Amino acid sequence: MAIPAPAADRTAVVTGASSGIGREIARGLAGRGHGLTLVARREERLRELARELTDAHGVRVEVVPADLADAAARTGVVEAVRAAGLVPHVLVNAAGVSTVGPVHASDPDAEVAMLRTDVEAVAHLCSLVLPGMVERRAGAVLNVASTAAFQPLPGQAGYAAAKAFVLSYSQALRGELRGTGVTVTALCPGPVRTEFAERAGFDPAEAEAALPWPLWVPVERVAEAGIEALEQGRATVVPGVANRLVAVGGRLAPRSLLVPAVARRHPGLRR
Ligand SMILES: NC(=O)c1ccc[n+]([C@@H]2O[C@H](COP(=O)([O-])OP(=O)(O)OC[C@H]3O[C@@H](n4cnc5c(N)ncnc54)[C@H](OP(=O)(O)O)[C@@H]3O)[C@@H](O)[C@H]2O)c1
Repeated sequence: MAIPAPAADRTAVVTGASSGIGREIARGLAGRGHGLTLVARREERLRELARELTDAHGVRVEVVPADLADAAARTGVVEAVRAAGLVPHVLVNAAGVSTVGPVHASDPDAEVAMLRTDVEAVAHLCSLVLPGMVERRAGAVLNVASTAAFQPLPGQAGYAAAKAFVLSYSQALRGELRGTGVTVTALCPGPVRTEFAERAGFDPAEAEAALPWPLWVPVERVAEAGIEALEQGRATVVPGVANRLVAVGGRLAPRSLLVPAVARRHPGLRR
């Protein structure tokens, strides 16, 4: 088992726990007996989940509200864990957002906020938490990337590039961490029905129509696939057969054919 066993002084830090994939991963870890530190901006949602998990599984759960686009808030999360007398034995970086539409018509502040959340926060939290994990020779990190990591995505250019960063970074960390007792896994979901698409600015019907039904995997299955891959110490997991084919296609297809084809289909470029 690559995930260190739960213990009274250990906590699994889960970002993006107020919704979607992060919330389901938190539920899956609590069901396996792990104490949790839940992180996101919407504090009331985190408190509701904390109550649910404590009642259902009898685990210890703390809530640390934080805007992960802010570097000081990220440091604050790690300090809050330490102040509670806990060590992070699991880190799940699930918080993420996307902008939609061409960059030349974008809100520059939204583009930067996305990169701070999707890229900077992942790298910052890993670099804050990994030294202790390596020293203790115990730890498991799950970084949520996307099938968007496997190819450029006109219409979500910054998002796909951010997820390519998360995938590449996670794979490189594994190389560095060989023999340390610490593992890093990248979870690469295809489309999942969460709050993500609507918050990004997609019309839900438009998103459904743009992506064939075999690509959509239920959030519970995506979370479970991520936790199982973490338990097995796997490098990467892409939930769903159709998404695994998309990932292979995205890696192998010549960019000169793929990029214009994606640009023609992307709903964010057809408005
Ligand atoms: N849904 C999909 O189709 C899909 C596909 C592939 C990959 N993913 C990835 O999966 C991850 C989870 O997405 P989801 O589908 O579960 O979306 P979601 O339901 O919208 O959840 C996103 C989570 O990220 C948190 N978050 C966003 N910005 C934040 C910030 N600045 N600071 C702190 N927390 C922040 C949100 O919490 P607050 O708003 O409360 O802060 C929320 O808990 C993301 O990394 C996403 O890129 C999603």
